[in-house]
Amino acid sequence: MNVKDDHGSLSAIARCVLHLGDKIFDCPPTFTMYEFDEVMNGALVIKVPRLSDFSLDVSCVVEVVKLEKPKCIFLTSPNNPDGSTISDEDLLKIISAPVLVVLDEAYIEFFGIKSRMDWERSMTI
Ligand SMILES: Cc1ncc(COP(=O)(O)O)c(C=O)c1O
Repeated sequence: MNVKDDHGSLSAIARCVLHLGDKIFDCPPTFTMYEFDEVMNGALVIKVPRLSDFSLDVSCVVEVVKLEKPKCIFLTSPNNPDGSTISDEDLLKIISAPVLVVLDEAYIEFFGIKSRMDWERSMTI
């Protein structure tokens, strides 16, 4: 499903997807409202911190999905606050894992990179 350009869409997705006690994970530092929305919807937040260059620790993300079976992961590309982007290769590894991936591309227009709006297994906001 693609959700385009709606203010509050993150909260709406969290409300639709999460139930009390669901596990979800974030990759901080990232947009802090993810954690707020997740906690507000009763989810347990697992954190997989980014590496020192702010890239995702993809192997750890995939491992955590296998071990913890979270319902959902919120990712941002370009990321707030550092502007780092997720490569196709890394994103493909993550969406191959059994987890719902929400890809937040709120700042895509400013980076001159291609949106993943047309990818099938992620929600793009
Ligand atoms: C990464 C990112 N996503 C989304 C938003 C806005 O989300 P929403 O309009 O759903 O509250 C912001 C606003 O600062 C943001 O930094």
